[in-house]
Amino acid sequence: ELPAASASTSSLMAPLHEAAARLRDSAVPVAFPTETVYGLGADATRSAAVKGIYTAKGRPSDNPLIVHVCDLEMLRSLLQPPNGTTTTSTTDPIPAIYQPLIAAFWPGPLTILLPLPTPSPLAPEVTAGLTTFGVRMPASALARTLIKLAGAPLAAPSANASTKPSPTTAAHVVDDLAGRIELVVDGGACAVGVESTVVDGLCAPPAVLRPGGVSMDALRAVAGWEAVERAYRDRADVGAEAPRAPGMKYKHYSPRARVILFEGGRGGGVAGTDVAEGTTVAVIRTGGWAVGVEGLGVALDHVRRPEVGESIGLTVREGRLLGGEGMPVARLLDVDLGRGIKGVAHGLFAALRELDRLGADVIFVEGVNDKEDIAAAVMNRLRKAASEIRG
Ligand code: TXA
Ligand code: MG
Repeated sequence: ELPAASASTSSLMAPLHEAAARLRDSAVPVAFPTETVYGLGADATRSAAVKGIYTAKGRPSDNPLIVHVCDLEMLRSLLQPPNGTTTTSTTDPIPAIYQPLIAAFWPGPLTILLPLPTPSPLAPEVTAGLTTFGVRMPASALARTLIKLAGAPLAAPSANASTKPSPTTAAHVVDDLAGRIELVVDGGACAVGVESTVVDGLCAPPAVLRPGGVSMDALRAVAGWEAVERAYRDRADVGAEAPRAPGMKYKHYSPRARVILFEGGRGGGVAGTDVAEGTTVAVIRTGGWAVGVEGLGVALDHVRRPEVGESIGLTVREGRLLGGEGMPVARLLDVDLGRGIKGVAHGLFAALRELDRLGADVIFVEGVNDKEDIAAAVMNRLRKAASEIRG
């Protein structure tokens, strides 16, 4: 049984000290909450610790990790060789292109790429052979306190088993990694629910390598970032060019069930022919959809308080799809994530996980219009999870 630290703020200092002590000494990573998703952290300067992340996750080692810092002083220390003679230069080692971005979005869900100094202060396993490293300062005060107490930058990927949806509660982490790690700091549900935006400001024009908690429009409003380009693809199988964020080429965010995604704002719906007799059909609604399947009746009779989605506030309704003369054809699970994109992002990964747990064979998802706010991140994750896209 994996011990989880308490979620109450007043009682969190002891667990945070315990977690920090493990981060300093152990080769087993510690899971902790950030405002985006739970991270699986290790001291980014110790090779043995960073290797422990890849082992626990079953993650390919050519996929670099994001480094998390608690303040700009810690970031600056990573832009110089370790124990190097400090130069008398008064210029900030943080490149000018990032200064207004940091001022606007840090602490927060934005990861920036920076050149790795030689020799590097980071364990080589963090960057997987690249000459840059990705770094962010999380908005979660709990995460920043943990980094400060550990006294080291923390390399942390999302704390899911490789290919699963990212965890947004401590229970999700336990589901995936029990037996592989020893401690999860439980800070409740993550506020944002999708990962950070990854940007490269070292190229011209600057580029978004992964859409996330900070939208393209918000980036464009910052001096020097007006021409920011989209340098990612939602589906790994489209186009020949390798993605610039290595992680974007892997299968991701996938529940066990088949996911069928309907592109946002284009109508459509579940057809009677989509439903195989005797299966469990799930629907995730984000907008105008009414619960239902063409040609079949719906009986939704009970509401479940999901175990793993509890701190997210998810509600799953359960019932049956009915054929001629009211005969049950299939079991039906229905999740309504609400109309606002922030709520959809907050509950999405928990919904995919909960529907898996309840035995869904197929999940039909109502897409959102990806022009709005962090909807691009939501649709990116859904397109990666989907085995079929319609609309
Ligand atoms: O919100 C987040 O970013 C979460 C929380 C825990 O901070 N972390 C996260 O890490 O999503 P991960 O490892 O699941 O995703 C990191 C992404 C991958 O797509 C990886 O390829 C990319 O960032 N990345 C990291 N360093 C990079 C680099 N130097 N160059 C290009 N891409 C990089
Ligand atoms: Mg991940």
